[in-house]
Parts: sequence; structure tokens; C-alpha cells
Amino acid sequence: MADMSHWEQCVLNCSACPLCATRTQVVCGNRNYDATIALIGEAPGREEDRLGTPFAGSAGAVLDQFLADSGIDRRKLYITNTVKCRPYTPTEKGGRNRKPKKSEIDACKPFLMAEMLVIEPQLIVTLGATPLSVVMDGKLPKMEDEHGRLRRWELVGGIEVFPLYHPAALIYDRSKTAAYRQDMENLRLLLTQRGLI
Ligand code: URA
Repeated sequence: MADMSHWEQCVLNCSACPLCATRTQVVCGNRNYDATIALIGEAPGREEDRLGTPFAGSAGAVLDQFLADSGIDRRKLYITNTVKCRPYTPTEKGGRNRKPKKSEIDACKPFLMAEMLVIEPQLIVTLGATPLSVVMDGKLPKMEDEHGRLRRWELVGGIEVFPLYHPAALIYDRSKTAAYRQDMENLRLLLTQRGLI
């Protein structure tokens, strides 16, 4: 099993950006360190911050449904986020989730890269524009053009990356559902060909 103890200690004590002051807890990956497929989301939301687990809330439910429909077992994946602490705008009701800022993404990037370098997955699946922007060295991707198109993340040894829309995008925009289903089917075929599922 990959030794992630040092990495976990660093990330759990991280104070590299202001999100450390408002988090309930750091949300690490799901600790499935022997996984051959890594899935990278954006950032923890309210539920994830409360429970300490990635994709525990409504976006997680959508993700689970698509994984189940595609015959991909969530327990076989290493699931993590680009940013490990919840970004939110304070409100009277405990805060509204927001997208991470570039400075927050940059502060967390060494952790994400370390995770990938130690786990060495054979395929990385990115969910939405935020993790893909890290793969693309800070360039903001147009998901309409990038979803379903394989690329490589050169900075972590050229691991292949399969970009998907973020599952939360489907909660707000049902018109993306057909494209998402097609991408999931293509992903399933790719994983089957590679013997990864
Ligand atoms: N929950 C997560 O852990 N990550 C996301 O990107 C969205 C919801």
C-alpha cells in the first residue's frame, strides 16, 4: 500500500491559505490508496466539511447514480478534491458553497500532485473545470470542448486524464445529461479495455 502518512499529516495541519480558518476539518481523499483509478472533484461542500468525506452530499448522490449506471464500483476509486477545505461565502444560514479561488487552488496544488505521484493511478477522471484547470497548468478549460477528450497530465508523469462534467452541473442543467451519459459509457469502455474494471 502506498505510504501516505506523511502526506496526510501535512495536509491535516495545512494553513497555506485562508480556508484553514473557516473549515470544520480538512477533507482528504477517501484513503483508497491502492486504487488504479483516481477521481478528482472541485472542493468539499457543506456536507463534506461536516463529515470529512469527499462527495458525501447531493453532488455525490448524482455521481453515485452515474457510477452505478456505468457499472463502476465507487469503492474501487480513489476520490479526492482539488481543494481540501470548504470554500464558502458566509450567510445567516451557515454559508453558501462557492468555487475555490485561483490562489486557493494554487495553495492546494502540491497536495494534489503528491497524491497522484504516490498513488500512481493508471487513469485520472476530472470532474468539472476546476481540476482540469490544474491539469492544464492554470488555463481555464471550456468544458463543452474538453469533456470526454483524453489528455495527459505531464507534471505527474504523463498520467492519462479523462475529463467529465461536474455532476453538480447536471443538477442545474439537465440538458447536459445525454452528453454525460455518453461520456460515462465511453469511460466504461476505456476502463474495460484497459482491464481497470
Ligand atoms: N463534493 C465534493 O467533495 N467535491 C465536489 O466537487 C463537489 C461536492
